Amino acid sequence: MYDYKLHEHINKLLHAETDIAGKDNLFYTRFLANASAIKELYDELYTQHSNGAAAFDKMLQTIIAANTNRAEVLKQRDLVKSEEGYWFLSNKIAGMSLYVDRFCGSLKRLGTKLSYFERLGINFLHLMPVFESPANESDGGYAVSNFRKVDERFGTLGDLKAVQEKMLKKGMYLMIDIVLNHTSHRHEWAQKAKEGDAYYQDFFYFFNDRTLPDEYEKTMPEVFPEAAPGSFTYVPECNKWVMTVFHNYQWDLNYRNPEVLVAMLDTIFFYANLGIDIIRIDAPAFIWKEIGTTCQNLREAHTILRLLKQCVQVAAPGAALLGEAIVAPKEIMKYFGTGSYTAKECDFAYNATHMALQWDALASGNTRVMLAAQHEILKKPHGTSWITYTRCHDDIGLGYDDYMIEKAGLNAYEHRTFLKNFYSGNFPNSPAKGALFASNPKTGDARISGSLASLCGLEKALDDKDIYHTELAIRKILLMQAHSFFLGGVPMIFYGDEVGYTNDYSYLKDKGKSYDNRWMHRPVIDWEKNKRIETKGTIEERIFSGTQHLLSIRRKLSIVADHSNITWLTPHNIHIAAYMRDFDDKRMFFAFNFCADVVFLTWFAFKEKNPAPARLYDHWSKTYLTVGGDHEYLIMEPYSFYVLEPE
Ligand code: GLC
Repeated sequence: MYDYKLHEHINKLLHAETDIAGKDNLFYTRFLANASAIKELYDELYTQHSNGAAAFDKMLQTIIAANTNRAEVLKQRDLVKSEEGYWFLSNKIAGMSLYVDRFCGSLKRLGTKLSYFERLGINFLHLMPVFESPANESDGGYAVSNFRKVDERFGTLGDLKAVQEKMLKKGMYLMIDIVLNHTSHRHEWAQKAKEGDAYYQDFFYFFNDRTLPDEYEKTMPEVFPEAAPGSFTYVPECNKWVMTVFHNYQWDLNYRNPEVLVAMLDTIFFYANLGIDIIRIDAPAFIWKEIGTTCQNLREAHTILRLLKQCVQVAAPGAALLGEAIVAPKEIMKYFGTGSYTAKECDFAYNATHMALQWDALASGNTRVMLAAQHEILKKPHGTSWITYTRCHDDIGLGYDDYMIEKAGLNAYEHRTFLKNFYSGNFPNSPAKGALFASNPKTGDARISGSLASLCGLEKALDDKDIYHTELAIRKILLMQAHSFFLGGVPMIFYGDEVGYTNDYSYLKDKGKSYDNRWMHRPVIDWEKNKRIETKGTIEERIFSGTQHLLSIRRKLSIVADHSNITWLTPHNIHIAAYMRDFDDKRMFFAFNFCADVVFLTWFAFKEKNPAPARLYDHWSKTYLTVGGDHEYLIMEPYSFYVLEPE
């Protein structure tokens, strides 16, 4: 609702140079349109805070400064995106996530690799954290000691800006992280807190003794039970305890203090004004803590995200937000916003549920659990999208609900045990080579590490010099990618997977990494190996060309943009995941065989929903299929798939 007093207040805060009737008119209009929501959300958290009113003004000034600092070229891009509407739902965006140093050494060199991405069909990059982070206490860059200084390992801020500009010229998109939940214990705020500065101690959760930490820990799950048990760390410098939900060198920020919120909003704007298109909010589920709860997914965490979204809308409307919430399916959905904030919180979330379900289907050769979970996944609101993926830098958590497994007729405990054994190489004859990550003997929980290729059996097949299983592994890799590319959402490939990198065990010799087996699937790219994509028939070439072909199909078919237009087909054959997508009087069918055998799908599956097609064109094999009678079958080879368009 319009708030006259707030309007007047904003007018007073605006810089003299803000041209509200001229060049800044759109900004001013957005500001007024969002002002009441911003105030309401802010008040929900800070109305009682002694510094609440002053920090609110500081926040409004941060928004104004962000507009002043936004380059004209970015404002023009904002306009283009606004005219497109939901630009990020497009089927023309496909991403890759990579560590700059491990991919090519430096940001400067990354600028010379853009043609590699273009050749593959990638026009969107997620750069894993490049801001300053202590070398041996880095968590892959997620322990940031300076949010504005690019770590020397990667280059300089100027190099980052140069890559961004080069990408912008090519119409590519860029994503980086805002590590919202914590800083490194070497961040300036933490250093000052250690020295006893009360102002900065209030930026974190500090405690004089273990009384409250013990209370919290009664209900707080451990994130890294092996490498960093517990959620609090003793700080000898000031003889206090500090909250450290992740590693002991990652100190949780205290969002009960509005100064923290304002400082982090300012950092978000700093990134948005570098020209970042999508800002990945790291670990948003954790940003609010409350004794007696799991300290995850709390209502206030959503309030903060909504508030950030409204502010970004005002001063950097072209920047979309991705909430990295790897939580239970029902909880993930809430990061898109609920109630009057539906589709007004995070624009993106990871489809972590479906990612894990793909691995479930691949291990079991059965799509029952996948199907039992779809009712939840399909609730995603229009105007928001998924990052769809098969592997990323993190572990695979089997985070879907027990009831989904039970609905598939399985015992949840036994099924999860089977999956964990299967992928960690503890199941007889399993082709997968991975490892358990973050095993917690107290709860029996564990997640899975391993590269796409190794989990699909390539490492073992190559070790065994087994041609048949090498062939199957390549098929599985492409099946997994295809399945996630056409599901709706922006596909995000993990670097190295486009050429089939198997696990890299060199991390075991590095003391900054050996405690974290996620490094086994974070390869160092060997560009000599990658050159094999030039030689027809090599494993690298087959995986690269297959991935490239899939991405080119996706780019051609506007029907696979994220129109929320998926209907799962009746499971006539439980080994096959099959769905159709409808848009603009067009229909397409997608079928994926997750099992090691030849399977049959009744042609009736394609006729259940009218009109029944006579012939189908398979974009993958570039051949036509004649739809047979109801007593006849589409035959699917092991781990094969079809991308079918009715003629
Ligand atoms: C996110 C990152 C993960 C990191 C954690 C703590 O989950 O993806 O790699 O360890 O946050 O920052």
